[in-house]
Amino acid sequence: HQSDIKGIRGSFLDFLDDPFYQSPQASVRYIADGLLVIDHGHIKAFGHYDQLQPEYAHIPITAYPNQLITPGFIDTHIHYPQTEMIAAHGEQLLEWLNQYTFPTELKFSDKNYAQEIAELFLDELLRHGTTTAMVFTTVFPQSVDAFFEAAERRNLCMIAGKVMMDRHAPADLCDTAKSSYQETKALIEKWHNRGRLRYAITPRFAITSTDEQLKLAGKLLQEFPDVYLHTHLSENTAEVDWVQQLFPHCQGYLDTYDQAGLVQERSVFAHGVHLTDQEFQRLAEAKAAIAFCPTSNLFLGSGLFKLDQAKSTQYPVKVGLGTDVGAGTSFSLLQTANEAYKVAQLRQQTLSPFEALYLATLGGAQALCLDDILGNFEVGKAADFIVLNSHTTPILALRTAGQPPANLEDLADHVFALLMLGDDRAISATYILGDLTYAPSPSP
Ligand code: GUN
Ligand code: ZN
Repeated sequence: HQSDIKGIRGSFLDFLDDPFYQSPQASVRYIADGLLVIDHGHIKAFGHYDQLQPEYAHIPITAYPNQLITPGFIDTHIHYPQTEMIAAHGEQLLEWLNQYTFPTELKFSDKNYAQEIAELFLDELLRHGTTTAMVFTTVFPQSVDAFFEAAERRNLCMIAGKVMMDRHAPADLCDTAKSSYQETKALIEKWHNRGRLRYAITPRFAITSTDEQLKLAGKLLQEFPDVYLHTHLSENTAEVDWVQQLFPHCQGYLDTYDQAGLVQERSVFAHGVHLTDQEFQRLAEAKAAIAFCPTSNLFLGSGLFKLDQAKSTQYPVKVGLGTDVGAGTSFSLLQTANEAYKVAQLRQQTLSPFEALYLATLGGAQALCLDDILGNFEVGKAADFIVLNSHTTPILALRTAGQPPANLEDLADHVFALLMLGDDRAISATYILGDLTYAPSPSP
C-alpha cells in the first residue's frame, strides 16, 4: 500500500525556519488549501491545491476540510517503562525514583511484560499525535528488544537505548561498567540504523553511573560516531548537589559527562533546569540539545527551565519538548506546550504559539538531528503527519469556530487555542509514512 501514490488535501502548517530567530513570515508556512502528494511513504510534492492538482489529477485524494494538518509531534524525552506509573503522588526526583520508578522498572526483566507495555505505549503516542520519540527503556536488554521490535512492526522512526546504571540503585537494576559496555555494543550492532530505528547510548544520570561507566559510554560513542547519547542533566537541586559530591574533580554537572566525551552534537540532555551560564555556553558550542520537559519539571517541583537563555542569539542551544512520562503528566505535546507557555509566564517571559508548535515539530527534529528526514513537509521527507480537529470538544469548537484561518495572525490565535485546550481529543488522524495508523473510533 505504501507504493500507492496518493494525496492529502487540507490546511497545512509547518516550519521552514526557527520562529525564535525569524519572523512568522520568514519561518511559518501556511497553505490554507494545500495538497500533499505522497509516494512510497515520502513527500513527492507539496503546494497549493489549485496549482498542484492538475499534475496529479489521477491520484486518490483524502480531504480534511476545516482541520489543520501539521508534521507529527516529536517527543525528545520519554520513558516507556514508566507508562504505568504516571501520576505517582507526592515526591521530588530522588525520592520519586526510589519509591516508584525503580520498583516499576524491575518488572521489565520479563520480556513478555515489556512487550505488552511497549505496545500500549506506542498506541498512546500515536493517539496523541506523536510520531517520533527519544525513549528511555530499562537496564534490561530484553526491554530494549521489546521496544524496537514493536516500533519496527509499526514503521516508526524511534530512538532508544538500554539504560546504563551501576550504582545508587537496587542491585537487581544495576549492571556493571563492563556488562553495560558489552550489552550496549551488541544492541547498537543489532538495532542502530535498522530501518527507521536509531540507537542512543543511555547512562541514566551521573548519580547512577560510576566514572568508569561514563568513560565506557564515551568509548562507545567514539566507536559508533553516529549513535546518540541520551541522559538527564541538572533537573533538581538535591540531585545537582549530590553530583558535585560524587564528582569533586568536575566543574559542575555537565562536566561529569564532558570529561567522559559525552557532550557532542548527537547528545540530548533532559531538563537542564539548573544549568549555569557556562554550561549553556558549552552545550551551544558542542551543538548538543536539551529536552525541555515542563509538565515533569512542574510535577516533580524541579524548577522553571530558562528557555529564553537556551534560545539566546549569542549561545543558542537546540531545544525540543519532552513529555518525560512518567514524571511528566501527559503524553500530549499540545499539553506539554501549554505548560511550557506557563513556565515562560512564571519567568516573566513569553512563548508565542508558533514558537511552541515549532518546538513540538521541526525544533524537535533538529534537536534529534533528524531534520534531514522529517519535521516538516519538504519534498523527500517522510510523510509522518497529523490532522488536528478543533471541533472535537465544545470549548475548542466555540473558541476556534469557523473556517481555516485566513492570515498568520488568525492562525496564531487558532494554534494557541489548540495548544491550551487541545489534547488527544484534538488528534483526528495520525499518518506514518503516508499510511493512516490512528483515527479515533466514531462515537456511538
Ligand atoms: N533522573 C534520573 N532518572 C530519571 C527518571 O527516570 N525520570 C526523571 N524525570 N529524571 C530522572
Ligand atoms: Zn526522564
